[in-house]
Amino acid sequence: MQRWLIVALGTALAAALVGALLLPGEAPSSEEGSAGTGPPTAAEAVAAGAQRSDLCLDCHREVTPNLVRDFEQSVMYQAGLSCSSCHGSEHTTPEDVAEAQLPTAQTCAQCHPQRVEEFSQGKHAKAWLAMSAMPATHYQPLELISGRKGCGGCHKIGLKTEEEIRQLKAQGFDYGVASCDSCHTRHAFSVAEAREPESCATCHMGFDHPQWEMWTTSKHGTRYLLKREGVLPEEAAAPSCQTCHMPEGNHEVRTAWGFLAVRLPLPDDPQWAEDRVTILKALGVLNPETGEPTGRLDAVKAADVARLTEEAWQVEREKMLNTCTQCHSRSFAEEELQNADELIRQADSLLAEAIRVVEALYEDGILEKPDIYEFAYPDLLLFHEAATPIEQKLYKMFLEYRMRAFQGAFHANPDYAFWYGWAEMRSTLTEIQAMAEELRRSAGAATQTP
Ligand code: HEC
Ligand code: HEC
Ligand code: HEC
Ligand code: HEC
Ligand code: HEC
Ligand code: HEC
Ligand code: HEC
Ligand code: HEC
Repeated sequence: MQRWLIVALGTALAAALVGALLLPGEAPSSEEGSAGTGPPTAAEAVAAGAQRSDLCLDCHREVTPNLVRDFEQSVMYQAGLSCSSCHGSEHTTPEDVAEAQLPTAQTCAQCHPQRVEEFSQGKHAKAWLAMSAMPATHYQPLELISGRKGCGGCHKIGLKTEEEIRQLKAQGFDYGVASCDSCHTRHAFSVAEAREPESCATCHMGFDHPQWEMWTTSKHGTRYLLKREGVLPEEAAAPSCQTCHMPEGNHEVRTAWGFLAVRLPLPDDPQWAEDRVTILKALGVLNPETGEPTGRLDAVKAADVARLTEEAWQVEREKMLNTCTQCHSRSFAEEELQNADELIRQADSLLAEAIRVVEALYEDGILEKPDIYEFAYPDLLLFHEAATPIEQKLYKMFLEYRMRAFQGAFHANPDYAFWYGWAEMRSTLTEIQAMAEELRRSAGAATQTP
């Protein structure tokens, strides 16, 4: 189907539903229409004093005035929606606030089925699931997870099942169930906000995924920002996060390598294949003793953490290349991405070497299996819960430095790829080797003392 047709049908459906969902007496007021040049913008309507009146709006203009002002600026207010379109109409007094419903993506789906469908196919939809599947999650204060003060604050973008929402409520955590307010935030729900890269920055930043920092200091980001300042003309080519990751506004996000940069099947290169097996064991996806897949592989599959076939990987790579070639030659873009792929291979070699150093300590009985480990083998997915100082180094090598090495390469940021990434991996490997020697020395000394 043509895109314009989908949009047209979607809008018609939305308009029909708006009618159906409005409370009696909430019909969009005719005062909103201005004579002549088409409908006013929301801002014009507000400026002209064309405020609508209904039960919810009137009381909330007193109770939460700036929230209502925000909503009054929105296209949805202009289209005739009111508070009850998303929160239901059960609550009407200060005494029955608990009856107000909090919307989920399903609420939005009533009027925006296509966007919800796209979103559901992509990685953002899996964010809650992926977080919950991490062994590290279970050792954190609930407030950081369910209360969204840590992991949960970003991973709330993921869809939650009704059962999960019920459980959260039972624990006393009511909010953060909408997913769709992550980029066009409530209650302005502005598409202009969502189109700007800042809408991604709150989550795609910091320790293990500093895409915001990498992009803002790359040629892509600096050009974009200079454009915004008017130094470069409006037409200047400068890709934002959305250009490369949400082409044509498509809400399905996914990259070829993903966050962990592991994929199946194993590479043809025998050394890389061996390194990848070592990493998969340390991720607990392969049983370190037998090499067989573990239950964690099912979690990886369920959360779409890794592309499982060459074809699935290639689909995403092709999409990305099609975006690069809007501005660059195909051979330039291919070479750039291949250089980054190659850096993953070499970073894997350093990481695997470090894992083997720690693995040998377990094998030789220098380190004992900690209670929270399933195997006498380092477990990278325990992150900072890793039981020994040497494995704390290993976790940083994996989650901070390896990430920066390849993410920086993909985001045209040499400083992240090299100094914050590769260089740190090298020096951490040296430290891990030295710590291992020290552990062996002191274990030897310990067995010699009477
Ligand atoms: C007579 C006043 C009044 C009316 C009418 C009213 N509300 Fe409220 N509403 C409140 C008050 C008071 C609160 C609590 C605010 C607070 O906790 O600071 C509230 C809270 C809310 C909340 C937040 C619930 C939460 O869990 O945090 C939502 C959503 C809401 N109202 C929506 C609506 C909708 C939709 C309508 C119309 C169907 C409506 N309100 C009508 C007074 C009103
Ligand atoms: C297009 C859907 C939509 C409409 C219309 C809407 N809201 Fe909301 N509202 C949301 C979403 C999404 C959340 C966040 C829910 C969550 O955190 O789980 C929310 C949360 C809230 C909250 C609690 C969180 C907070 O920031 O305090 C209040 C209060 C609230 N809305 C009031 C209103 C009022 C009053 C109106 C009308 C002026 C309104 N809403 C209209 C979608 C909507
Ligand atoms: C009752 C129907 C209805 C519901 C429910 C609804 N919307 Fe909308 N929404 C509309 C209509 C109508 C428009 C204006 C026409 C359009 O863009 O499709 C709109 C427009 C938008 C826009 C474009 C804003 C702009 O600046 O152009 C965004 C973003 C949006 N909605 C997000 C949401 C989100 C997120 C939810 C759920 C929390 C939601 N909507 C729930 C009907 C609805
Ligand atoms: C509220 C936090 C949040 C915001 C805002 C956010 N993201 Fe994400 N994003 C995440 C999380 C969490 C994941 C990992 C989801 C998973 O797979 O478990 C993710 C994953 C992704 C991925 C997929 C990476 C892969 O594994 O293939 C891309 C691409 C992406 N985001 C791009 C964006 C862009 C572009 C924006 C802004 C338009 C954005 N995100 C806004 C939290 C966010
Ligand atoms: C600042 C926001 C933020 C916080 C806090 C955060 N994450 Fe994430 N997480 C993200 C983003 C963004 C991604 C996607 C990064 C990428 O693909 O480069 C992600 C990716 C992931 C992934 C990989 C998902 C996949 O399928 O590839 C897992 C698992 C994960 N996070 C778990 C956690 C856990 C567990 C915590 C807390 C210990 C946590 N995250 C804290 C934002 C956050
Ligand atoms: C990762 C950030 C992000 C998330 C999460 C997100 N959106 Fe969007 N949304 C955008 C961007 C960017 C645009 C602008 C697309 C464009 O340029 O056409 C947009 C535009 C829209 C629009 C405007 C009209 C249109 O179709 O382009 C609607 C409606 C919308 N989103 C609904 C939703 C719904 C419903 C959800 C939840 C399933 C959602 N969005 C989640 C980033 C996001
Ligand atoms: C010029 C295009 C481009 C821009 C702009 C861009 N990215 Fe990327 N991004 C890529 C490429 C290429 C990859 C690696 C794809 C692959 O796996 O093959 C990637 C990967 C990612 C990933 C997965 C993990 C990783 O870093 O490799 C996330 C998450 C992500 N980008 C988010 C963002 C965010 C957020 C922004 C804006 C701050 C952004 N990107 C800007 C091209 C871009
Ligand atoms: C919207 C246009 C646009 C898109 C899309 C785009 N770029 Fe760029 N890119 C530019 C511009 C303009 C420059 C600045 C050229 C310069 O440095 O002289 C640039 C610079 C770069 C640079 C650093 C400068 C250099 O020549 O070494 C790299 C690397 C790069 N792009 C790779 C990519 C890759 C890979 C993709 C796709 C994932 C991509 N770009 C997508 C416009 C774009």
